[in-house]
Formats: sequence, C-alpha cells, structure tokens
Amino acid sequence: MRDEGLLATNSDPEDLQFEAGLRPRHMDEFIGQPELKERLAILVEAAIQRGESIDHTLFSGPPGLGKTSLAGILANEMGANFRATSGPALERPGDLAAVITNLDAGDVLFIDEIHRLPRQVEEVLYPAMEDFQLDIIVGKGPAARSIRLELPRFTLVGATTRVGRVAPPLRDRFGYVARLDYYDEADLAEIVTRAAGILDAEIQPDGATAIAHRSRGTPRIANRLLRRVRDYATVRGDGVVDAATASIALEIFEVDERGLDKVDRYILEAIINKFSGGPVGLSTLAIAVGEETETVEDAYEPFLLQQGLIQRTPRGRVATRNAYAHLGLEPPPDSAQGKLL
Ligand SMILES: Nc1ncnc2c1ncn2[C@@H]1O[C@H](COP(=O)(O)OP(=O)(O)O)[C@@H](O)[C@H]1O
Ligand SMILES: [Mg+2]
Repeated sequence: MRDEGLLATNSDPEDLQFEAGLRPRHMDEFIGQPELKERLAILVEAAIQRGESIDHTLFSGPPGLGKTSLAGILANEMGANFRATSGPALERPGDLAAVITNLDAGDVLFIDEIHRLPRQVEEVLYPAMEDFQLDIIVGKGPAARSIRLELPRFTLVGATTRVGRVAPPLRDRFGYVARLDYYDEADLAEIVTRAAGILDAEIQPDGATAIAHRSRGTPRIANRLLRRVRDYATVRGDGVVDAATASIALEIFEVDERGLDKVDRYILEAIINKFSGGPVGLSTLAIAVGEETETVEDAYEPFLLQQGLIQRTPRGRVATRNAYAHLGLEPPPDSAQGKLL
C-alpha cells in the first residue's frame, strides 16, 4: 500500500465513521470562523422570521475546513432536510432532475465539488436556482418534447475547493459566497479538545496545543492527529494525551513540527532536488511526487504558499529560502540563482 499523506481523501470506512461522529451539527458546536458564523446566523434567522428558505450559498476553501459541516448545520438550523450529492455524481441532467424533484420546500440540497458539475447539468441548474423551474426533455427523437416542472423553494448549498473553477454564471446565482480560511492554533486546540471529549480521550491542554500546532490550520487534520496520538498514548503511554506523547507520536507518523506531512516534504524536496529550486510547472511537479495535479493544487499547495515555503510565479512553482531552511538545506547563493525568493 502506498503510504498516504494526511490529506489523503478518505474512503476508509473507519475513518469516515470517525469523522461523521465528530462533525458539528449545530452552529454552537462549530468552533472558530466567528465572522462567517455571524453572517450565517443572520441569514438563517432572517429566513426563519420571514418564513422563507435561505438563499443559495456557496462555501469555498481548502479541504477539511468545515464546508460540508456548515452545509449540514444550515439545514439543521432551518429544521430542514439535508440531501447531499456531488458534482461528479451528477453525470447527466436526468441525475439532477431525479434528486431535485424529490425535494420539499426549504430542503437543503448540498452539491459537493460543485466545480466538477458537467456543463449540461449546470445549465439545468440555472433555472432551478433562479426561478425554481426545471425544464426536462421527455421522449426521444421527433417525439421528444420539453416539459417544465415547478419546483419547491429549496436551498442549494455548494462547496468547492476551487472557486476559480466555478463558472461565473453559476457563482452569480448564489446569494451568498463564503470563503473558509485556515484556523488559528487556539481554535484548533479547542476543536481537538472537543473531539477528545466526544471520543472519551483524556487530554491535557498542552497536548491539545501540541496537536493544534501541527495541524496545518485544518480541523480534519487536527482530529486525525488526535486519533494517532491517542493510539500511541494508549499502547505506549498511560493513555493521557499530553505534549510529550503528542510530540513522540507525531514524529513516528512523520508529521514535522510545522505540521508538514510526507507529501508536503516530497513536494519541497522535488522542487529543490529535481528541479533545482524551480520554477517547475504544477503538472510536472505532481508527476514527480506521484500525486494528482488537482490534489497538489487544492490540498497541498495552499498551505505551502500560506507558510511561505513555495511561491507561484508565472513560470511555475519556486522553493523559497524558508523551504531550504525547513529541510535543513543550504540555499544556493543569490548570484547562482537570482530567482530565489
Ligand atoms: N469549525 C469546526 N469545529 C469543529 N470541528 C470541525 C470544524 N470544521 C471542521 N471540523 C471537523 O473536521 C471534519 C472535516 O470537516 P468538513 O466539514 O468535512 O470539511 P470540508 O467539507 O471543508 O472538507 C469534520 O468532520 C469535523 O470533525
Ligand atoms: Mg466536504
């Protein structure tokens, strides 16, 4: 089995179940992002007061920051049903029609990875979002005709790791577009502490901080690291998660003190060693580290950029001085590599 990074998309049923158990269900369980929460609370309360459904809402941001959780929270706060699907799952207009005609008024339809909706499906979605109407073709050939269905007033909640890939006409049809950002350490420590409570794991405040510090600003990773550290504390320690156990356990799982995992380091090493510091194009880089281009761009690159370890230039990705320093490497002299940032 290929050793996967922390950001590996999950298909492991145990992992999925673990995540589902920790997912915040109501606004007050959702930690951090206070401005966003306040705006969403206003959206919800106004809709409730007017007896309407909430505006279509789009969440964007890197994986693991709480987009799916917020979509579910909106439905729960509205007391509405939550129907989840995804861009790639809706292959044909009929797939969307099947989902959408089964909605009740006020329901939340969640479309994950909405930037991957096929074009013809997107076109059916426009009148559905705007006028709550669905035009579908019934029959084939000369007998085919278009019929128009009236839809209940549902709320579409979209999520995307790639807001730039959402077609502008689709983006414009959302009443509210929200971007989620990386979390600070204090919020992550609170998230870890909450999760430990749900998992019935004993944790010290310094243990929560140590995990938070290495979580790449990402709640999903914080919770995964908690699980690894708890395993270690159970079998090699006294069961209590504190800073010392956290730091040993995370070393074993190759998460470094900056929260970079193996794949992050492969990326930096590849830019430096295989492409002499860059610039290197994204797809070439992805091949060099054996990941999908999209995974590198959506999941890994944003954090490496945010940390100032790489930079994007018109000619490709470049390792910064920080990247050399982080890997304990000597940066090339300025004169030899004028491009070093
Ligand atoms: N603000 C938050 N407070 C508490 N837990 C969170 C928060 N955001 C995310 N999580 C945790 O991280 C996991 C992943 O969040 P999710 O909503 O699936 O992220 P996304 O859809 O953006 O990839 C959730 O199951 C939950 O345990
Ligand atoms: Mg999600």
